[in-house]
Amino acid sequence: MPKDWWKEEAAGIPRLVTETPGPKSRVMHANTTKYMKGLSSQVKLFPVCFDSGYGITLTDVDGNRYLDFSSGIYVTSLGHCHPKIAEAIAYWSKKLMNIHDFTTPVKEKLMEKMASIMPGKLNAIQLYSDGTSAVEAAIRAARAISNKHEFISAYRDFHGKSMAAVSCAQMYRGETHSYGATRAAGFYMVPRPDPYRPLWTKADGTIDTDAYISFYETFIKEGTVGNVAAFVLEPVQGWGGSIFPPDDYFPKLQKLCEKYRILLYDDEVLAGMGRTGEWLTLNHWDVVPDIVTFGKSFGNGFPVTAMVVKEENGDALEKISASSSYGGNPMACAAALASLEVIEEEDILNNVREVGQFFMKRMTQMKESHPIIGDVKGKGFLLGIELVKDKTTKEPFDEAGKLVYQKAFRKGLAWIPAGHILRMSPPLIMNEHYASMGLDMIEESITEVEKQFDYN
Ligand SMILES: Cc1ncc(COP(=O)(O)O)c(C=O)c1O
Repeated sequence: MPKDWWKEEAAGIPRLVTETPGPKSRVMHANTTKYMKGLSSQVKLFPVCFDSGYGITLTDVDGNRYLDFSSGIYVTSLGHCHPKIAEAIAYWSKKLMNIHDFTTPVKEKLMEKMASIMPGKLNAIQLYSDGTSAVEAAIRAARAISNKHEFISAYRDFHGKSMAAVSCAQMYRGETHSYGATRAAGFYMVPRPDPYRPLWTKADGTIDTDAYISFYETFIKEGTVGNVAAFVLEPVQGWGGSIFPPDDYFPKLQKLCEKYRILLYDDEVLAGMGRTGEWLTLNHWDVVPDIVTFGKSFGNGFPVTAMVVKEENGDALEKISASSSYGGNPMACAAALASLEVIEEEDILNNVREVGQFFMKRMTQMKESHPIIGDVKGKGFLLGIELVKDKTTKEPFDEAGKLVYQKAFRKGLAWIPAGHILRMSPPLIMNEHYASMGLDMIEESITEVEKQFDYN
């Protein structure tokens, strides 16, 4: 498969032939939402109806063609309908769709491949079909490994929408009540360093990671019953707005966890499998977790996720009744295996590192010239632009975030944000030309919003 399999289809995007969302989109959306409820704010703010996708291109039912800056929602990272991955799924869809958790030839190959890319001895694996199920399994595995039952996670975390997952997450953002989000007993949250909005700083004004770690230590001693099974972390807070902690945070957190025999559980459902230029985002800081979960990019759109623990703790998976109905079905294994092979064959990690630098350079320039851009953040293709009303007060500018989202979408950019942090998750196959095109649409939209609010 040539590396630029997607380029021909992308020629000429964005191409808008109607107002957007177009007339057909509006009708289909209205018909659907007579019955379908509970849609994301992204869809509510821009009710377009998509018909097809190929590589970095999306086409709606009115024939408008968009540049993709979202990869579904961090999912189709190798491009929509990657021919190799689509073929692998199609092959097993005609041969063997589900056979519980019996071994299949494609599962054998996937296990070998996964073990070869995991750092350290992370090679005791179970497969699931959504991120939340993998997170649930990780929580049960942490209890089985440690014989302890408490969990600590961080403000602004997101880990899925089951009971244990919402117990580790900040589901409430102020605008809606999340009735399913009550935290279960034994789940705690602590602040986590956000370099743009530090809670504790040193005398020179820089963020004080030690103060966070020291607070955690006090919290473990005073706020728990001394039974903490795991520290649950996102390597980057994705839903929270692409928030990266300072470089010394994870190594220091790992030391603290070792001191109190607390497992480090790294939820890479959003950030893993190449999105930041490494297989695991935690690899950037040379930290090997005890437990890791994958999802989203793992099957490039086919629902397949994984929970992995260290070899020495593999027995725990025997204790938690780890298997499921769909986890590891042949189509899922084929999608995941083909995706991992594509990452290697197309040198994706390198592309992410190189084009990722381009993204950050251009976003930093944007920050200098726009009064409402308070901060830009990112590693590889996991990016964010934080909009504020005032660079000194840093007051979040939610209204601007929504308007920029809609304006850029109308220009032909299919993307994610809905709050004041403009989250971006472009397909990892993207080159500088299209990266620049997407940022142009965003920058033009920011300029228009600044004018609307009398900035400049
Ligand atoms: C870090 C993280 N964990 C878990 C999940 C849940 O995954 P899913 O939506 O596939 O259940 C998400 C989803 O966005 C996530 O970002």
